[in-house]
Order: sequence, then C-alpha cells, then structure tokens
Amino acid sequence: MSERVRLGVNIDHVATVRNARGGLYPDPVRAAQDALIAGADGITAHLREDRRHISDRDIDQLSAVLRDQERPLNLEMAVTQEMLAIALHHRPHAVCLVPEKREERTTEGGLDVVGGHNWITPFVRQLTEAGSRVSLFIGADPKQIEASHRAGAAVVELHTGAYCDAVREGRTEEAEAELAALRAGAVQAHALGLEVHAGHGIDYDTVTPVAAIPEIMELNIGHFLIGEAIFVGLGPAIARMRDLMDQARGLDGAA
Ligand code: PXP
Repeated sequence: MSERVRLGVNIDHVATVRNARGGLYPDPVRAAQDALIAGADGITAHLREDRRHISDRDIDQLSAVLRDQERPLNLEMAVTQEMLAIALHHRPHAVCLVPEKREERTTEGGLDVVGGHNWITPFVRQLTEAGSRVSLFIGADPKQIEASHRAGAAVVELHTGAYCDAVREGRTEEAEAELAALRAGAVQAHALGLEVHAGHGIDYDTVTPVAAIPEIMELNIGHFLIGEAIFVGLGPAIARMRDLMDQARGLDGAA
C-alpha cells in the first residue's frame, strides 16, 4: 500500500478570482506552473459551458505550456458536442467527463452512466481514439462503476463530495458510510481493470482516509487549495496536502 498517490491541482478558482475583475490577473497558467513546482503531478481545469471560470484561451495556453513541459493536463468537461470538438482539437493527456447543470455552484453529483450509456459511450470512444485517457466522474455506486467499465472508460473518478460534506458538518455515521462506499467502489473498479481517481471537496481534514484507499491512484483537488493559498501561499498549501497524501500511504513525505 505504499504507492504514491498523484495529485492533480484544479486551478479553476484562480480564474474565478481573475474573472471577478475581468482582465488577466491572477493568471491560471502561472498558478499551474507554481503548482507543478510545489509538487502537483498534473493540472486539472474544467471548461464549463457557461465559461464562468476557465476560458477557451486558458485551455489554449495551458495545453501549450503543459505540453512543452511534458506535464499532464486533465480537462474536465460536460458530455456535449461543443466540448468534444474542443477536446479533440487539444487532445489533452486526460479528459474527465462530468455532469453539468448551469444553475449549480459546482459539480453536484456524478454522471449517470447507466442512464446515459448510449450517449456517453461514443464520447469515450472518440476521445480515447484521439489519445486522451478518459475518466468518468461518478458516485461510488456499483451500477455506475459497472456501466463505466462497459462504456470503455480507462478511469473512474469517484465523487468524494458527500463524504467531505458529512465530515465538515459532523455527520459522523454518514461520513463513515460514505467512506465505506468509496472503499468498496475503489475495490470494485480496480477489479474491473479501471484506474481509480477521486475528488471533490477534499481538504486537510478529509484527505487522509481517501488517500489511504489503496486502489486510488490520483486525487484532484481545487477549491480548498486555492482558498488556502490566500492565507499561506499556493506552494505551501500544496506541499502540505502532498505531505498528508504521502503520510496516508505510509511514505512520511519521503517520496
Ligand atoms: N474532480 C472533479 C471531477 C471536479 O469536477 C472537481 C471540481 O471541479 C474537482 C475534482 C475538484 O473539486 P474541489 O474544487 O472541490 O476540490
């Protein structure tokens, strides 16, 4: 259980702050570079249909800079033809397909891969053929995991939002149940040959039990790290998260 968990840093909310004033500052590309220096293994960005944070120009620039530096970009996107065309143009290292509702504040639940099988499968196939590693963002539900496997995805990203909310709100029994579901989901997905990632809502108080799940290979963390960067700086915030992830695997920050 000693394999290091990769950390993908989601830089969407650097763009949220920039967009509050228009203009170019703070620049998500600069944040991406600082994040990589601080110990991120890759950069995650969600190009939403309403462009509320990350813009098309950000994706152009992130793609170019990360490709030059041979570092992975994980593009999160809705399952739409517009987003498919953008992803096929950029061919990022990874694409994570997420559900998207315009009225939501953040990605509230996982994709319904069971109900959307006929619609999602061709997206997975085209993106995979273009060279991207395709991940489906789902709840830790056995039926969704099975359907993700049937849809041809290489990866599932398990939604940790319900677990993190339960911890923060002191709902201990629910938190335990959500964590048990994440553990079981990780075992099931791994047994099917899927690579297992996890993300959403993770902070210093919730990262350890999630990073300790042996099948999990990657965590994608954004909002908390960008918020914490206001107080301690992006580099120290990421370095502490990195240490907690390593300690969860018994690596004691030595990796
Ligand atoms: N993973 C996925 C698929 C997401 O949609 C998000 C939010 O964009 C994250 C991880 C990161 O979540 P948070 O910003 O809450 O850390």
